[in-house]
Amino acid sequence: MEILVQPNPETASALAAAAIAKAIYEKPTTVLGLATGSTPLALYRELIRLHRDEGLDFSKVRTFNLDEYLGLSPEHPASYSHFMRVNFFAHVNLNPQRTHIPSGLVSQETIPAHCEHYEEEIAQAGGIDIQILGIGSDGHIGFNEPSSSLTSRTRIKTLTERTRLDNSAHFVNPDDVPHHVITMGIGTIMEARKIFLLAFGENKATAVAGAAEGPITASLPASILQMHRHAHFYIDPLAASKLTRLAYYEWVLAHKPAWQRDDIAAR
Ligand code: PGA
Repeated sequence: MEILVQPNPETASALAAAAIAKAIYEKPTTVLGLATGSTPLALYRELIRLHRDEGLDFSKVRTFNLDEYLGLSPEHPASYSHFMRVNFFAHVNLNPQRTHIPSGLVSQETIPAHCEHYEEEIAQAGGIDIQILGIGSDGHIGFNEPSSSLTSRTRIKTLTERTRLDNSAHFVNPDDVPHHVITMGIGTIMEARKIFLLAFGENKATAVAGAAEGPITASLPASILQMHRHAHFYIDPLAASKLTRLAYYEWVLAHKPAWQRDDIAAR
């Protein structure tokens, strides 16, 4: 686990975007796991800029999103399908056939088959190379709320009231936030070769501290990332403010050998 504290969300996002761009230059068929929410917006803006100004080519990239609200059509303004189109897909040369998001419109009976199919598609693509993650204020990753099995696979989950409240700004009426979602499982996420978790702002500080320094527990799902061999946290000073070993992480970053510094942008 590597904790990269950057001066602000933009610089942290630019660092993560540079690493993603490098991966795509090296392997044009890179498989990206994508996240939604306010956190990855600056990252998507930077990837769009790299595409526009530096010719970063997404034509062979494949993407799998973490989750979707059940009951929302892809056209619903709060659906993650809509979010991805508006904030990323419409601005780069991704082939729509190579973008995957769980469906919000599957019927109750077909949910298990849909989830199994999603897992199969990830496996057929060769697995996820880089998974982008946000973190909930309750420590969730994807929509794996506290108490989710640490080995779970893609499935239906029920949101906590806290998450519904956190996400209510995207809905006309807070009561409109769906109760149910389809989300990649924690086991699914952990199979990604690399994981880039982004977290910004004071509201994430407790969750980030628990994820990086607390015990590994289903009560704080992101804490499982301590078991991942290539988990990197790109965070701002506010999200880092409750880390007890903050000075050490900064010291490590400041004293990296030159070749390892290059490697941060190259991973
Ligand atoms: P946010 O959501 O980026 O909107 O804060 C993060 C998450 O719930 O994973």
